[in-house]
Amino acid sequence: MAKSRYIYTCNQCGYESSKWNGKCPSCGAWNSFEEEEASPAASAGRSSSQSAHDLSDNILELEDIGVDSDVRYDTGIGELNRVLGGGLVKGSLVLLGGEPGIGKSTILLQICQFLGEEHSILYVSGEESARQIKLRAQRLGVDTENLYLLTSTDAESIAETIASSSPDIAIIDSIQTMSISRITSSPGSITQVRECTNLFMHTAKNQEIPIIIVGHVNKDGAIAGPKVMEHIVDAVLYFEGERHQSYRLLRAVKNRFGSTNEIGVFEMRDKGLHEVENPSQMLLAGRPHNVSGTCVACVMEGTRPILAEVQALAAKTSYAAPRRMATGFDFNRLNIIIAVLEKRLGIFLGSLDVYLNIVGGFRLDEPAGDLPVAIALYSAVMDRTVDEQLIAFGEIGLGGEIRSVSHITQRIREAERMGFTTCIVPKQSMSAVDPKDYSINIIPASSLKQAFGIIK
Ligand code: TYD
Ligand code: MG
Repeated sequence: MAKSRYIYTCNQCGYESSKWNGKCPSCGAWNSFEEEEASPAASAGRSSSQSAHDLSDNILELEDIGVDSDVRYDTGIGELNRVLGGGLVKGSLVLLGGEPGIGKSTILLQICQFLGEEHSILYVSGEESARQIKLRAQRLGVDTENLYLLTSTDAESIAETIASSSPDIAIIDSIQTMSISRITSSPGSITQVRECTNLFMHTAKNQEIPIIIVGHVNKDGAIAGPKVMEHIVDAVLYFEGERHQSYRLLRAVKNRFGSTNEIGVFEMRDKGLHEVENPSQMLLAGRPHNVSGTCVACVMEGTRPILAEVQALAAKTSYAAPRRMATGFDFNRLNIIIAVLEKRLGIFLGSLDVYLNIVGGFRLDEPAGDLPVAIALYSAVMDRTVDEQLIAFGEIGLGGEIRSVSHITQRIREAERMGFTTCIVPKQSMSAVDPKDYSINIIPASSLKQAFGIIK
């Protein structure tokens, strides 16, 4: 049977199929299949004229491989260095993803100022004209002499130019605008994105320079791109945050040269992105006084504890089924906590609408966030204020018990540093803590009932 000229690829997960599917059998996405010609992808592999040969001469002993001690470039932005695992690694390909308008081009232009002191940078833009970039650079106060601009969308020519002009660092903004002319599909399609990324990967490795690629993602992760690029590149950083709120979180999703737990916190101001060195202070600013339904939580973002305020509101419902809403907290988790409150503590919320919000657009994804959420709910339902100087953390089990969490000492230290006076911690975690070491009052609790007894 003649082989079909076309293959169909899911633009979400890269699943390939010989026929079009309405729903991807691999990732379950709907209407995500794109038609592409079978040949270009195949030609990226071995051409038929080449044959396999013995590579035993190329085998190296681990000991013999020399590594420069100075393989990381400091970007001049501490928060970015942290997320990268200590700086930009020579020869690495980094994907910076995020929704359009979140600040990807801005941060990349900003790092040029510091990097430009000692290194030459080639900034390739397929989205903006050189004039636009210049205007933005002026606004950001970037005036380094080592920054070179190129506006092009032809990936092969760009790779060629990088090889011939040999900059120390290259930036490609954005991968969705790049295309390889011999591939027929349009820029931004899955084939173009994958092949262009492969091309830049080779350039980065051959030239031994770091290349940063910008990739746009939609709210629902749609639009071909970042997902298929993730396994090609060395590091994937995602910029998150609400466009209408001023701060942004930079998160490593994958990093071959460091931990993926780290986050960087930035604030978008009129002169670009600024590092937020003390996120707890920012997230706790403007807390209301003497209001029921709030409690402070402590989450670990990588190695860094961050304090955030949990707010709950319980209002009499006017619907047959009460409303439940959670912003910044898992909806199902909220329902579980409500069920535990009802079943184990007899606090009934069946006639109340419940709204939960983590202040500042922050997400409380850790189990340690359960206890402050339960306390905020309790405080809202009972209309009792919680001591403003109190902080709590712990996972809640279905039996109403409070279970231990990790990094207990770091969390207590952060609460202490931010001036809190009381800290409710899981009793099980106390073995690792000597209360005498802290000036903060540490109260262990083994059940929700006990915790609620403390706050009233
Ligand atoms: P940008 O870096 O262009 O986003 P991306 O490259 O991720 O699409 O960010 C643009 C947004 O940031 C835009 O909404 C305006 C805002 N902004 C500021 O608030 N201050 C600034 O100094 C700059 C340069 C942009
Ligand atoms: Mg941009």
